[in-house]
This record gives sequence, structure tokens and C-alpha cells, in this order.
Amino acid sequence: MTEVALRTAALRKDFGGLTAVNDVALECRVGQMHAVIGPNGAGKTTLINLLSGDLAPSSGRIEILGRDVTGLPPHRISQLGVGRSYQRTNIFMRFTVFENCRLAAQSRLPSSMRFLRAAARYRAVNEAAAQAIELAELGGREQLPASSLSHGERRQLEVAMTLATQPKVLLLDEPLAGMGGEESARMVELLKKLVPGHAMLLVEHDMDAVFALAGLLTVMVNGAVLASGTPESIRANREVQEAYLGSPGHE
Ligand SMILES: Nc1ncnc2c1ncn2[C@@H]1O[C@H](COP(=O)(O)OP(=O)(O)OP(=O)(O)O)[C@@H](O)[C@H]1O
Ligand SMILES: [Mg+2]
Repeated sequence: MTEVALRTAALRKDFGGLTAVNDVALECRVGQMHAVIGPNGAGKTTLINLLSGDLAPSSGRIEILGRDVTGLPPHRISQLGVGRSYQRTNIFMRFTVFENCRLAAQSRLPSSMRFLRAAARYRAVNEAAAQAIELAELGGREQLPASSLSHGERRQLEVAMTLATQPKVLLLDEPLAGMGGEESARMVELLKKLVPGHAMLLVEHDMDAVFALAGLLTVMVNGAVLASGTPESIRANREVQEAYLGSPGHE
């Protein structure tokens, strides 16, 4: 098995009297897709915000590639190899596909790039953007303004912008939200392709996609982990069925 790229222990986030993330322990390895599912308000986005450094945990620990990163700011965590996409879009609509990816690459230069000279850095940033666009299957659309893309292509662009930061750990918050059947199928294939080189944490409500993609599932309810295990064990879990999978709109 590959090394654990992401690990949390007793992770907790309180918002006043509300515990949005409560004693969460999870792991993700390179080559693994770990899906986090659960009803609205379960704490999934808050969990991603903690892992990306956008929010500081109230207590607990986060390790990335064997390093304690608890409490580090987002740009440091990004430089250590964590990329995230957002549930609400992060795209600059007036900028082109290439410009959006270039900005993403530039804003989160990996530590290996920081010491390059300006010209080499410029080239490295452009290369990171171009590679991310290819990987996210937006080749040929580089010079289009983001506003002219379809909804599905915009979600691909979000993935490309995340990849432009050259992460080892990918945190994806509902990459399939609002997509039609064909668009979803394309995104599922794209995400599948990314698994071998990345440790992927996927938050998603589309259960067909989750069960098609994830090797490991964690179910969150009211901030806490209700169950964690293989897709088969989660599907067969009575408590999970009652709390989530059996609810209207989910299977
Ligand atoms: N910045 C904040 N301040 C106060 N409460 C918050 C904040 N962010 C989230 N919450 C609350 O924390 C809980 C968890 O929210 P979160 O957005 O993490 O849920 P989620 O599982 O991502 O839901 P969804 O599936 O709808 O995206 C909710 O009750 C939410 O209202
Ligand atoms: Mg959310």
C-alpha cells in the first residue's frame, strides 16, 4: 500500500455552540478515492475547509504527507501539496481558461518553484497551467473566456485550476453539483483518471458517482462520523440507510 497522504485525528470545529466537525478521524492514500457523504449541514464542507487551512480547527490534528500541518494557513498547506475545489465557483468569468489556470498556478507556487529565476518561474507557471488544462480535458479551449463555457466545462475548469497547483492531495467539494447525465459521466471519467497519482477526498451527493468512484467511504451526520468502510459495507449498513441513503432523493 502507498503511504498515507492525509490523516486527521480527533478533528473538531466549533462555531459558537454548534459543533460542525466532531472528533473526525480519517485517512487517504495516494491512489485512493475516499468519499465523504452525508446530509446537508453534516459538516462536509467545514471538514474540507479545515483540511485546506481555510478554517483553523478548534482541536485535533491534521497530517499531510507525514507532516503536522494543523493550524497552518492555506497557502502553506497548498505549497505542501494540497489542492481544493470549491462548492461555489471560484472562477473569474471574464478571464480565459488559460488565465484562470495560470492565476491558480501562480497563487499557489509549490515550494520547489519559489527559488527559480523570474523567466524560469514564468515558464513553469505556464507549463503547470497547460498540463492542468490537458489533464482536465479542456485542451483547445485555452483562449475562451470562462463565461462562454457550459456548466459542465466550468466544473472541469475548477478541477483544472486545482490541478494547476500540482497537488498530491485533492479535496473536491461537490464537483458534480448541478450537472446533467452526460456531463456527470464525463466528470466521473476525469476523476477516475486522476486517482492513480493523487490522494483524493471527494465530497459528493451524487451516489451513483460516489459508488462508481470511491474505494473508501465515510458517512458524516451532525459533524460526526457515523460509519466508515468499503462501499459494500456502507451500502449494507442499516444506520447509514436510515440516516442518509434511504432518505428521499438518495437512491
Ligand atoms: N462559518 C460558519 N459559521 C457558523 N456556522 C457555520 C459556518 N460554516 C458552516 N456552518 C454550519 O456548520 C454546519 C455544517 O455546514 P457545512 O457547510 O460544513 O455542511 P455540508 O455537509 O457541507 O452541507 P451541504 O451538503 O449542504 O453542502 C451547518 O450547520 C452550517 O450552518
Ligand atoms: Mg457543503
